[in-house]
Amino acid sequence: MQQITITTPDDWHLHFRDGDMLGETVPATARCFARAIVMPNLVPPVVNAKLANEYKGRILAARPQGSNFQPLMTLYLTNQTSTQDIIDAKQAGVVAAKLYPAGATTNSAQAVSGIEALYPVFEEMQKQGLLLLVHGEVTESHVDIFDREKIFIDQYMAKIVQAFPELKVVFEHITTSEAADFVLSSANNVAATITPQHLLLNRNDLLVGGVKPHNYCLPVLKRSTHQQALRKVVASGSKQFFLGTDSAPHAKHAKENACGCAGCYSAWSALELYTQVFDELGVLDKLEGFASFHGADFYGLPRNSSNLTLVKQSWTVPDSVTLPNGEAIVPFFAGQTVDWKIA
Ligand code: NCD
Ligand code: ZN
Ligand code: ZN
Repeated sequence: MQQITITTPDDWHLHFRDGDMLGETVPATARCFARAIVMPNLVPPVVNAKLANEYKGRILAARPQGSNFQPLMTLYLTNQTSTQDIIDAKQAGVVAAKLYPAGATTNSAQAVSGIEALYPVFEEMQKQGLLLLVHGEVTESHVDIFDREKIFIDQYMAKIVQAFPELKVVFEHITTSEAADFVLSSANNVAATITPQHLLLNRNDLLVGGVKPHNYCLPVLKRSTHQQALRKVVASGSKQFFLGTDSAPHAKHAKENACGCAGCYSAWSALELYTQVFDELGVLDKLEGFASFHGADFYGLPRNSSNLTLVKQSWTVPDSVTLPNGEAIVPFFAGQTVDWKIA
């Protein structure tokens, strides 16, 4: 196939950041996605309805002229989150709340320690119909970084899912066969997002021939058997898996650093790279479900009514993007060829 037209997709997990950066990140996503779930890990984090509303206003103001892009806002759970925060968030149109185990990832120092303490909050989310989005990694320093997702499943995920059978839970940016199997063996109120990097790469792409800081994200890339398991699950067309780029920009100097930041800025190539993966797998017919239907259906939101066409045409991701504040950022897949292009 040389061309494919799909219902306009949505991105069910990304990081826009804030301030000047929105002038870069919002147009990059609005070029092809109708909606996006906006992660709340700002500094300070988006912990209540008021902050979410203000942040939404700044995102809307950064949309390109004529764009109808809609940000879907999320709350950042902390040990101080109350059931009233959940009620207020629902009223303000917030669609989900994000659970970051403390210290798991970028700007998560203020997040949750002792997940059971949040059970009354999960109870209220279940009642209000707010989704629970989970960064599923344990953070204990003795646990090997490559095992952190797998161990999170037994220690937390399975318990949360069992305790709240009506709560919709998204296991975000899954990276292992264990996470894929967990979702497949769960009821329909459990789903997962998968990033382009975890479908395209494995840990060799991070570590062989020198450290590749621009392929470093969390959860960290795993061995190729896990990459293959994720590819298999998207190729199956299962409705429990959908597109979430986890596009997560960091300035070039912060990535190319003795202590480099985690996150891949994929907004400029993610949809094209997913298409490439589905093409490689011989399942382009499954792309629309993954990119445009499964997420909206899971969130209980209408599917988009417009279309988008991709053509099989090679192009090269730029080596660098300049931020509004003049800083450089190296996009995911920089300098590499992508097989598909938005028409
Ligand atoms: C994300 C970020 O930079 O905010 N980084 C990442 O490596 N994925 C945080 C996250 O999604 O865990
Ligand atoms: Zn995360
Ligand atoms: Zn993320």
